[in-house]
Amino acid sequence: MATRKNLTADRGSVGHKVRYALRNPTRIAPYVRRAARDGWLRFKHPDHVGYYRAVMASDTGRNPEAAVGSRTHERWLALGKMQFDYLTGHGLAPRHRMLDIGCGNLRAGWRFIEHLDAGHYYGIDISPDILIAAKRTLADRGLQDKLPYLTITQDLTLDFLPDRHFDVVHAHSVFSHSPIGIIDECLAHVERVLAPGGWFDFTFDRTEGAEHQVLREDFYYRTETLLDLAAGHGLKARFMDDWEALGHGQSKIRVTAG
Ligand SMILES: C[S@@+](CC[C@H](N)C(=O)[O-])C[C@H]1O[C@@H](n2cnc3c(N)ncnc32)[C@H](O)[C@@H]1O
Repeated sequence: MATRKNLTADRGSVGHKVRYALRNPTRIAPYVRRAARDGWLRFKHPDHVGYYRAVMASDTGRNPEAAVGSRTHERWLALGKMQFDYLTGHGLAPRHRMLDIGCGNLRAGWRFIEHLDAGHYYGIDISPDILIAAKRTLADRGLQDKLPYLTITQDLTLDFLPDRHFDVVHAHSVFSHSPIGIIDECLAHVERVLAPGGWFDFTFDRTEGAEHQVLREDFYYRTETLLDLAAGHGLKARFMDDWEALGHGQSKIRVTAG
């Protein structure tokens, strides 16, 4: 499932869009439809969370697995397994407590819930629609006895969660949809909920060129920007080379208490 990263493109620029359209003419009409829908949703919801919640409602209404970024059920399963294998490979054990930020419809979450002791998985998301889909996944997998928490959130201050509680905090393909202020907010508050020795892994869409965004849906950051942001909050952060070797389209950073 290796995805080749284009680390220099500015996908928001007119030049890139024209070149892309010439190479992929069949994608022009879907892009125009999406841009029109997103323009309307941004008009109705000027704040980012309100806007992205509306995008998720629209996408989840069509297909929850596609809404979290998987075009086929096989890809949905594979992407969840990749996240699971990575974290268990890094020592995620049943006794650990995990916070999954932007848990979606439990593409990886159902595997974490199955692996962890009952009550040790806590998933949060801004989208009520995807959380309803998450409950369906939970029921389909027969994981009711694991009693995971699945909670809606408006922001990433994590203020409703206890101090020093989570061994692993995880955000897969969430900051790739987040303006920098949301990432900053999360980094400002995550240390408080991390248990001693715990870590926070997040993925991001990486660029080595100019930072840019597309339709306010996809955001591309330089690694140094995010490492510096974490350092500004007194956190240690490092780029995960072993994740890179897996060939996923996004890159990963691990944050630990400073
Ligand atoms: C691409 S999906 C990934 C879902 C899940 N992490 C996975 O890998 O299957 C991104 C999810 O993050 C959620 N999300 C986006 N921005 C968020 C935010 N600021 N706080 C919490 N969840 C957010 C979306 O609603 C969506 O469910």
